[in-house]
Amino acid sequence: MNKTKRLLLYVLSLSLAISMSACKTQKHKAEVFIYNAQDTFIAKMADTLQDSFPKNYSLKFHDGKLSQNAQNEQIVNALKNGCKLLIVNMVDRLSSASIIEKAKSENASVIFFNREPIKKHLLNAKNAYYVGTSPVQEGQKQAMIAQNLLGDADAISPLIDKNGDNTLQCVFLQGEKDHQDTEHRTYSCINYLTAIGYRVEILAMDFASWNRDEGKALMERYYTQFGDAIEFVFSNNDDMALGAIDYLRENGIMTNENIPFPIVGVDGTKYGLQAVKDGYLYGTIVNDDAAQADAVVRLSRYLSGEIKFSEIGLTFTSERYIYIDGPVVTKDNIAKYI
Ligand code: GAL
Repeated sequence: MNKTKRLLLYVLSLSLAISMSACKTQKHKAEVFIYNAQDTFIAKMADTLQDSFPKNYSLKFHDGKLSQNAQNEQIVNALKNGCKLLIVNMVDRLSSASIIEKAKSENASVIFFNREPIKKHLLNAKNAYYVGTSPVQEGQKQAMIAQNLLGDADAISPLIDKNGDNTLQCVFLQGEKDHQDTEHRTYSCINYLTAIGYRVEILAMDFASWNRDEGKALMERYYTQFGDAIEFVFSNNDDMALGAIDYLRENGIMTNENIPFPIVGVDGTKYGLQAVKDGYLYGTIVNDDAAQADAVVRLSRYLSGEIKFSEIGLTFTSERYIYIDGPVVTKDNIAKYI
């Protein structure tokens, strides 16, 4: 082969290699919109999403800072800049129809996560899915934790039933009003306990917006009013439970030696798990961020045309919803998680 031919071959193979690597690095773009970066579980979920997407995706994150107007603007801008995949944690769940419509008019798809769209909005859409936790199961699992401690419904353990009236006096720390996890966790817990025969007296239930400080203030209100008549605390998440524990510990009501009543949460955040290990939080249910992020990735790969629907490998409810269940954690199995 003469010199010119060899040079030509070299140039050809080099340009082939360059164009192949350009193909490999061709990126899918997705933008992620979260309702509030100050929320402990959501901050963790955002990190997990970032870590879970394959390298051929570039993600851009936006914080709605509790404002649906701000989030709408972020979404409109992303669509204007040609984004075809929106991963949305709505501030206000009632916005699902307008987000679906905005995306549809730009030929884009939406994966909602954690804050569930209104059913009829999602079922009418062709371009949208939801991934979230399984709040009905979580409420039931909180109830099962209580069941283990209460024992026989006709003779509740005196360790819990402090006044011996064979009725569980409890309080609820609820998340945000109108949030699907607030509703389902609360009512499936109560329904489960009553369905298996326990007498349950709800001394109080109010909202603390998933927030540790608000949970602390609510516990102060409850304890001031009911004191040791409280026999159990059900919290819709770990942060509010931790706030309750802050109040009780700072006021000497809960100590290493004296736990006045069991408190259970949901999420299994690192602070929640630590409190289980330390014995202050009796138990929690894992809100499985890794499995939820994995589901978002699978749907993204389908919506970006990388895989077929039959290759997604997820179980759908009503064709468009994916609910991910998580395990119970108490001191008995905490070693597995921490
Ligand atoms: C729930 C979670 C809460 C909070 C909320 C935000 O699933 O348990 O801690 O993060 O989502 O929508």
